[in-house]
Amino acid sequence: MASRISTKHLARGLSRGSPSRLVSSQLSNHARYLATPAHPVTQDATGSKGPTAMVFLNMGGPSTLPEVGSFLSRLFADGDLIPLGRLQSYIGPLISARRTPKIVKQYDAIGGGSPIRKWSEYQNEEMCKILDKISPETAPHKPYVAFRYADPLTEEMYNKLLADGFGNGKGGRAVAFTQYPQYSCSTTGSSLNELWKWRQRLEGKTASETGNGTINWSVIDRWPTHPGLVEAVAQNIEAKLLEYPEERRSKAILLFSAHSLPMTVVNRGDPYPGEVAATVQAVMERLKFSNPYRLCWQSQVGPQPWLGPQTSHTVENYIEKGQKDLLLIPIAFTSDHIETLYELDIEVIGESGHTDTVKRVESLNGSPVFIQGLADLAKAHLDSGEACSLQMGLRCPACKSERCAESKKFFASQQAAISSA
Ligand code: FES
Repeated sequence: MASRISTKHLARGLSRGSPSRLVSSQLSNHARYLATPAHPVTQDATGSKGPTAMVFLNMGGPSTLPEVGSFLSRLFADGDLIPLGRLQSYIGPLISARRTPKIVKQYDAIGGGSPIRKWSEYQNEEMCKILDKISPETAPHKPYVAFRYADPLTEEMYNKLLADGFGNGKGGRAVAFTQYPQYSCSTTGSSLNELWKWRQRLEGKTASETGNGTINWSVIDRWPTHPGLVEAVAQNIEAKLLEYPEERRSKAILLFSAHSLPMTVVNRGDPYPGEVAATVQAVMERLKFSNPYRLCWQSQVGPQPWLGPQTSHTVENYIEKGQKDLLLIPIAFTSDHIETLYELDIEVIGESGHTDTVKRVESLNGSPVFIQGLADLAKAHLDSGEACSLQMGLRCPACKSERCAESKKFFASQQAAISSA
């Protein structure tokens, strides 16, 4: 939900707080850490169906401050995310250029960049190690990351796949694994549209000339109630609840917070609100409804109506009612990002006046339970032989995007190749 995150911060900028400075040595260490070594891939590897490319899709974020400008520029160019109509290519750059200095300060305040690349690469590499053990027939599993608005971009990932021995007449199997557990056309949908676009540009000629030898794609397009996700979130909630005195613990309100959507998107029929609610229900069932809870939505921006209630207002209103034990739970992202580290920690909690009782649950980040869950989910997908979920084939009732139609048609068409592999 990049638009939502970022549009809020883009619109507001840094109005409060004193950002810390990231010294140059830290920046260079950070950059070195992010330079993940490439893994060579060959099509004659050991698994009878391998190798398998596991491609994590996510919005991404600027890893360093100099990358903020290009990140915002791509974000405002995405019509799936921020529909600006025919003026997109004119208005988008103007808005991003105006917002960049303010957003740089926000990323500076959270340590000099987004940790999303670090966590995505770590999670994928660890998941692939598990997959090599539990799914030897599709091994070796090779981790790739494709971000929508930051490096490594989809184009870069696709070229790396080709350079590593996938496609180019040799075929090979790749799984596009969305790291948004709940599907929205503005997030997973946008990433898949971008993947489809680069597949057509980089492999369309091969497909039309030879009819085969291109990469066989399948998609894990949503997993809002997967047991690994539910268990990992529940364990993090239980751990944080222990910080409240025992006599108050069961009365603390659990505030699940997800990125909001403009009501125009909701009313178009986007599946995201229902899938987020499904995650919340599953987590509360796992917790045996140990606490009162609410689902609220963050990062709204602008005068248009957005799905509510807003997280910040929810916290303010409960505090006004005398309920100060509030536990915020990020429920729609798989790692820390500017919405947790800046919006929730610095803005919502930092300005609540009750930093001792308003707390936030840890993001999933390096949770071994979560990473095992990712591996279990990927194995089930590989075993299923399905190109994508049935649900992915259904467009929003009010969708008018030809890009959506063509992209969905392409991924559904991969079923024959996946089944015969
Ligand atoms: Fe949802 Fe096109 S906007 S399928």
